[in-house]
Amino acid sequence: MPAAKPIAKPTIRQTRLMINNEWVDASDGNTFETLNPATGEVLAKVAHATAKDVDVAVKMARRALESGPWSKMDAPERGRLMYRLADRIEQEAEELAALESLNCGKTIVDSRGDIGGVVNTLRYYAGWADKIEGKTVPVRGNFLSYTLRQPVGVCGQIIPWNFPLLMLAWKWGPALACGNTVVMKTAEQTPLSAMRLAQLAVDVGFPPGVINLLAGLGETTGDAMVKHPDIDKIAFTGHVDTAKLIQKNASPTLKRLTFELGGKSPNVVFADADMDAAIEGAFHAIYFHCGQCCTAGSRLFVEKKIHKEFVQRLAAEAKKRKVGDPMDESTQQGPQVSQEQLDKILGYIQSGQKQGATLVVGGERIGSSGYFVSPTIFDDVKDDMDIARDEIFGPVVSVLPFEGMDEVVERANKTNYGLAAGVWTRDVSKAHTYARRVKAGTVWVNCYHVVDTTTPFGGFKMSGQGRENGEAALDHYTETKTVTVKLD
Ligand code: NAI
Ligand code: MG
Repeated sequence: MPAAKPIAKPTIRQTRLMINNEWVDASDGNTFETLNPATGEVLAKVAHATAKDVDVAVKMARRALESGPWSKMDAPERGRLMYRLADRIEQEAEELAALESLNCGKTIVDSRGDIGGVVNTLRYYAGWADKIEGKTVPVRGNFLSYTLRQPVGVCGQIIPWNFPLLMLAWKWGPALACGNTVVMKTAEQTPLSAMRLAQLAVDVGFPPGVINLLAGLGETTGDAMVKHPDIDKIAFTGHVDTAKLIQKNASPTLKRLTFELGGKSPNVVFADADMDAAIEGAFHAIYFHCGQCCTAGSRLFVEKKIHKEFVQRLAAEAKKRKVGDPMDESTQQGPQVSQEQLDKILGYIQSGQKQGATLVVGGERIGSSGYFVSPTIFDDVKDDMDIARDEIFGPVVSVLPFEGMDEVVERANKTNYGLAAGVWTRDVSKAHTYARRVKAGTVWVNCYHVVDTTTPFGGFKMSGQGRENGEAALDHYTETKTVTVKLD
């Protein structure tokens, strides 16, 4: 087999705002720089949307919703447009994946996986477009009552940098299937791939104003969206503290809000587990995409009987990991997304050492350009250490030894988060007991990070509000209207 070589750097074709199907500069001409996290070099200057730009995008989205061709389009036709977009993305998959890796630092193999997820998501929701039905309701008296499910309206969507295109698809999919219009803001770290994809949406025939794509910072562009009186809903993915601020800032306009926030997900290995599978699974749970996953299995509970051997074997795997250029097909781990994230992660590694956890492997920055961190394992972590409580969002796992179901369930649930949880065991009863008792929106048994567009995804407690994916997402993108008719 020939050795894998780095793939070519993709062309950056779009750097401006897409409003009403046209590419425009920011109203004040301002831009911000977007970087290559593997090198720290500037890739492009990108238009920074002002509050005025947000307002224009909202007006266009409102017009498309109320009176444009989209407002009159038959539901199957809406679905067809979405299928066409999915097909077009499939044709451009390699270019989109390269752009994603360049701007986000994700390995090219992972980026290709993400594009597959984008295509699946759009096709899944395209299929829903003409299957969103109301009900006829048996009311008292001589009346006919039925429900209509109508779009929520203009949807403001604010996404993060860890899965730029996949988060776009999770939010466009249900919004468009239900007939809404969209004003989306990408993360300031990763605006480029979404811009390419927005152009594809224009190419396949989405009418002007249905999809508007803005770039900009959270505290400027994002804040203007949250406060805008004519945005009906905000769908947000990101940090829990940002969600608290959004909830506060959205309160004067009482927007609908859905949140997908982070986690400190417990991944529990019982002594009776298939050991090889559990080691591979625990490894993937934390190190997939450099730990920059809301569902990362960052609290690894290992039953005491097998704890020492488990940690040794996990560390041996971590030492073998190939960290480097995300554009190289043989790379297993790329850089963290930014200097800010790198500093945050290194800060937690210091805190783990200071608070008395045992650093087994890793714990260092790799190189001096780009934002690379070696796969890191802390052992003998206590529940109250910062590394066991806070979302680190890096390749750092905290190993917590335990004894027995009751103890581990109590400790697993001792967190404000509740996004995901894993369990490894051969005992069917143990698996289902844990699944029932752990407080999390998703539970994986003998697997991890298996996320499908067809299954509801979201958090208990402070990990979120509402659900994305699956039929569940449709509830958050429709308003239910009751119509009652007096019969003669
Ligand atoms: P963030 O929550 O600040 O950013 C996410 C998105 O929200 C970005 O598009 C950002 O521009 C926007 N935003 C920020 N402040 C806003 C505001 N006041 N109003 C409206 N929009 C706003 O997250 P950040 O700073 O990128 O990452 C910090 C930490 O957040 C990470 O270390 C990680 O722990 C967590 N995070 C969780 C994610 C998840 O998938 N749940 C994704 C990204 C980050
Ligand atoms: Mg932030």
